[in-house]
Amino acid sequence: MVPFDRGHLGPETSMAHPPIRRIGVLTAGGDCPGLNATIRAVVKTAIFRYGLEVVGIEDGFQGLIEGRTRPLTARDASGILARGGTMLGSNNRANPARQFVGLDPEGKPRHEDLRHRCVETVERAKLDALVVIGGDGTMSGASRLVERGLNIIGIPKTIDNDLVGSEISIGFLTAVATATDAIDKLHSTAESHHRVMVCEVMGRNAGWIALTAGVASGSDVILMPEVPFQWDAIAEFIDARRRFGPGFAIVVVAEGARPRDGEQVVAKVDLSSADPIRLGGIGAVVAHEIGARTGLETRVTVLGHVQRGGGPIAADRVLATNFGFWAVTALMQGARNRLIVRQRHCFTEVDLVAAADRQRTVPLGDPLVDAARAVGTSFGASIEIPAGDRPASPVC
Ligand code: F6P
Repeated sequence: MVPFDRGHLGPETSMAHPPIRRIGVLTAGGDCPGLNATIRAVVKTAIFRYGLEVVGIEDGFQGLIEGRTRPLTARDASGILARGGTMLGSNNRANPARQFVGLDPEGKPRHEDLRHRCVETVERAKLDALVVIGGDGTMSGASRLVERGLNIIGIPKTIDNDLVGSEISIGFLTAVATATDAIDKLHSTAESHHRVMVCEVMGRNAGWIALTAGVASGSDVILMPEVPFQWDAIAEFIDARRRFGPGFAIVVVAEGARPRDGEQVVAKVDLSSADPIRLGGIGAVVAHEIGARTGLETRVTVLGHVQRGGGPIAADRVLATNFGFWAVTALMQGARNRLIVRQRHCFTEVDLVAAADRQRTVPLGDPLVDAARAVGTSFGASIEIPAGDRPASPVC
């Protein structure tokens, strides 16, 4: 094993702190395939390689606030590698520094700072550090706990793949595989009926799933939040395709996509959630508008939470094993408050607090955007790549 080169790492990396003997692990935010594989890697690495004790915290930050913990043995972590969901449970509402506690008489949400309860849980369970498996919301919550003195190592997971600092998050590749498989199926029925099939995928404000599944499925049009689209451009593209080629088209649209002159479509506002906006519904709008503008028959499919379900594909199992292993290894090498990330295919780490509260959207100079355009995919608008946004090579 080649340990991290810690020479370049920041001041929060030190051996001066008490030794790590007992760690807690939790999964927070929306679930995704690969969480169990990550828990397995954390638990087994901690026990087999470093002789640590491991404690599981149930339902993410909610369990940390409520003190719901249980010991995890290597046996508990056996047989879960390929299983979807999370054996510890998760929660995308809890927010220790700003926990929703109800509505005031005017119907406005009331929040409380419950970080002291998280610290109490950690002290009661005698945890020297926490491994927190989550997305950007989770890392924001974790960074507020760091302010209260906890030592937290983050592992990126989210189908949205939008965590700053890491080129890949656990769950993303499986979500893309699921979406690609679904779009492939829409392809054959679209062809039979000469229809336009619109497929809405998740991703919040980032277009990674739409872009990657769109390319993988050979979709004709990819609409993503990073490129506000123009109705005329989409209609003209589909019309031209019908005149010169096949009489059907596949459109993949990210839930966060919006027209240049319009807003994102919000499905629901959940005031009890740390991130109250739930996007959804743009697929139906796109299908309707394309039908009206082209006269073609259109249908919409919303993939929804299917993208988060099921077991992880092989690549996600490997990723999860690497992330779990490196998280515990970094901790044992003295890391404090770091986010384990993958950059240019190598595992390394960044400051957890600096990576929180930000989202990694698709840069317009991303090589995959360029490759998609090269093979004739429309993004529903012309793309202006900002200077300096274009990587030198597609394999950088
Ligand atoms: O962040 C993951 C994600 O699946 C997003 O893609 C989606 O917008 C959101 O969570 C859905 O949240 P919920 O599970 O609360 O409906």
